[in-house]
Amino acid sequence: MPWPSSPVVLVDDPTLLFANAGMNQFKPVFLGTAAPDSPLGHLRHACNTQKCIRAGGKHNDLDDVGKDTYHHTFFEMLGNWSFGDYFKDGAIAYAWQLLTQVYKLPTDRIYATYFDGDDKVGLAPDTESKDIWFKYLLNERVLPLGCKDNFWEMGDTGPCGPCTEIHFDRIDNRDAASLVNNDDPTCIEIWNLVFIQFNRESDATLRSLPAKHVDTGMGFERLTSILQNKMSNYDTDVLMPLFDAIHKVFFPDAYLQLLLCAGIQPYSGKVGFDDVGKVDMAYRVVADHIRALSFAIADGSQPRNEGREYVLRRILRRAVHFGHQKLMAKQGFFSSLVDVFVRVMGDVFPELKDNEKKIKDIIEEEEASFENTLAKGYERFKKAADAVKENGGTDAFVLWDTYGYPIDLTEVMAVDFGLSVDMEGFNVSMEEARQKARNARYKAGGKSIVLDANATSHLRNQGLASTNDSPKFQHEVHSSVVKAIYIGSEFIATASGDEDFGLVLESTSFYAEQGGQIYDTGSIEGASGSFTVNNVQVFAGYVLHIGSFLEGPDSKALSVGDEADYTRCTLIAPNHTCTHMLNFALREVLGDHIDQKGSIVLPEKLRFGFSHDLRKIEDIVKKQIEDELEVSAQEIKLADAKGINGVRAVFGEIYPHPVRVVSIGRKVEDLLANPESKEWLSISTELCGGTHISNTRDAAAFALISEEGIAKGVRRITTVTAECASQAMKLASSIETDINEASKLDGATLEKKIGSIKNTLDAAAIPAARKADLKGNVSKLEDQLREAKKKMGKENIQKAVKTAIDAAEAAVSEGKPFCVIHVDVGLDTTAVREAVVKDMDRFKGLPIMVFSTDEASHKVVIYAGVPPDAPNGFKVLDWLTPSIAPLKGKGGSGKNGLAQGQGSDACRVKEAMELATHIASMKLS
Ligand code: ALA
Repeated sequence: MPWPSSPVVLVDDPTLLFANAGMNQFKPVFLGTAAPDSPLGHLRHACNTQKCIRAGGKHNDLDDVGKDTYHHTFFEMLGNWSFGDYFKDGAIAYAWQLLTQVYKLPTDRIYATYFDGDDKVGLAPDTESKDIWFKYLLNERVLPLGCKDNFWEMGDTGPCGPCTEIHFDRIDNRDAASLVNNDDPTCIEIWNLVFIQFNRESDATLRSLPAKHVDTGMGFERLTSILQNKMSNYDTDVLMPLFDAIHKVFFPDAYLQLLLCAGIQPYSGKVGFDDVGKVDMAYRVVADHIRALSFAIADGSQPRNEGREYVLRRILRRAVHFGHQKLMAKQGFFSSLVDVFVRVMGDVFPELKDNEKKIKDIIEEEEASFENTLAKGYERFKKAADAVKENGGTDAFVLWDTYGYPIDLTEVMAVDFGLSVDMEGFNVSMEEARQKARNARYKAGGKSIVLDANATSHLRNQGLASTNDSPKFQHEVHSSVVKAIYIGSEFIATASGDEDFGLVLESTSFYAEQGGQIYDTGSIEGASGSFTVNNVQVFAGYVLHIGSFLEGPDSKALSVGDEADYTRCTLIAPNHTCTHMLNFALREVLGDHIDQKGSIVLPEKLRFGFSHDLRKIEDIVKKQIEDELEVSAQEIKLADAKGINGVRAVFGEIYPHPVRVVSIGRKVEDLLANPESKEWLSISTELCGGTHISNTRDAAAFALISEEGIAKGVRRITTVTAECASQAMKLASSIETDINEASKLDGATLEKKIGSIKNTLDAAAIPAARKADLKGNVSKLEDQLREAKKKMGKENIQKAVKTAIDAAEAAVSEGKPFCVIHVDVGLDTTAVREAVVKDMDRFKGLPIMVFSTDEASHKVVIYAGVPPDAPNGFKVLDWLTPSIAPLKGKGGSGKNGLAQGQGSDACRVKEAMELATHIASMKLS
């Protein structure tokens, strides 16, 4: 039955960095854990092509890629499987038939190996396979080999068994038996048939499986090279188009290349000394690595700092480095290869086409940032390398620590400078630096207590067992016994005084800082002392409770041997449980492709990588709290845990065996009773060793505070629980009340209030969805203000113009040649201006000065008009400027006989108006 490839980034097997063999996705079938009614449960046989990356873990080819013509990080593995169906006879017969009858490979160039047994582990030779091969091949072409070559395992644990390999001699007419499995590129393994019979358990023992299976793997690239009659995988039409593209990327214009008589030759397939300048090696590295990166990104991963993602970063950096150094590639060359690659492979693997833009964007960004590091670091590297050549030294660490120069790159470049990196020394320096950072951290919190190796071995020599961590993370008060007290660098019998001490208890349920979760805090009560625990760390199995005594004379002593009750403070647990609920809500709302990129559980808030429909997500978590769901935790077998439908593990993380399962809303034992049930998809179940509350009601409240982008494709959600969440909601309500109150205001008061509400709202840590609503409400207030202003503007104009005209009419009838008036329109300059303009129109240039004041701000606006032909050469500014002096006013313009001014002392408006009247009377009479 044809079967699709699994993603190269496996979603449900945290024991692997990447898919490294076709059989990975069939593990549950081999182990007998696949649900009988699931698609996998029905399978009896299957065949497919599987995307594989071997660049980390047990099968790691990264450092060999490029050096020869047959290693790849990414390759396709063609395979056929029997699940408890055909076995050795069938598998060998099918392979023989396909190779010799379908592909028509010459039978006299085929060799087979079989497992020769291993006394040490009690495995007998696989004579069955040997005898089957004797039917097809001459006996001297059937070769016995040991565990290393003929006992196949996918990783440290998992299904495994003896295998028989088929090798092909690329050269005719010779006896190549001695070349088999000898790293000779002319005689190569093409197909591995594995007879899966065992499971390698986590304690390294082999457990027989309930049924026997066949797992086969044939390298697609190798097979292609044979069928296309090429001497290497890289010479085939799978990879040649990439070499052409690489050549063109650097030299788009062949004519220009000729003209310049420069440049890099096209790929010529050379290796070792023949490959002068390692140019062909660089071609192979770049072509191989763009394949691995593109598939990994298409399948949901991307280069970053840790685990699998760091492997991708290394792959990218290796390619970019080789491109620049050996191929004179220009900046950004690597991402420009994505187009060609997608053209070559996109029809078979449509996920490449679907994600082409994403692949290109991510590679482009990562490449650019690396080029930046390189540009800064290269000169420094050169100096360091020269210095090391002369004097020796520890510069790899300095380069890394001070300049962020990646160690893997230092390794690659060191070779170019004829140096090697002392990785052991590097690791020692690295560990020292970590320790320093840890110490600095404790110091910063006034807690410089660290159990070093001497201290822990002292405890062990005293016969003190590691701290017993059961009862695990329970909340009730517990009793234990003080086993050791540590201060500075010595153990003491009695702790008293104001200093910080470290206490080791016989048993504890305090969580020591690890796995992204901060330590618990709490208190330890002895007969005559109450000790506050404000930091908990674990050293070689000893949990150290670091803290000091409470103030007060009665509470200051604890001795080794004292019985002590301890209480854990529960601030952290609700946050951690909410992380699980949030995780679940994210998946409900956004779908299964969501991957948690990192979370840190701290007492006051929890952080999380991710995006979108915030309200729904928040509501789901709140509902779970309202529903008062029981949080159940239990340590169970890793395989059983993974068999639970919908169980969530952080990808790339290696889980212990047995593993702790935390489930919200159902008991772990219920899940185990019917692990395949679809019902489990609608609850949160995670593999997790951290502290949790025992019922979701204890989280009390939850608020999703913000959501922001922190890197390409990665968003962060910040949330708070318990008291912080209640406060966030209270704050949101009080802002809402403010907004409601403000809607009753108008004019300048409303305007001012809107300004202050906006500032508060921007800075407020309140639920993000409420914030969006409240912003909407503020916009409505702004609309209200705009409308009111518009309406008021019209009314003001009418009012001001009417007052001016009435005054002018009165002046004219009294024979007064000007008028000075006050209108009541606040700081509405448009209305004041209109009053002047309309008045002068109507009364043929009657000089007029209009004042309007704003009580709240004490400001005054003034507008004046004087016609150009006014008597005695009277000009508007001659009038305005002196008139507004009492108001501490300023004025200007004066064009077309109009001038405008502003004052800041409204109390003196009467005085100013009298002055204006006086001046006009003088000048115009
Ligand atoms: N799983 C076997 C391999 O990867 C076929 O070689």
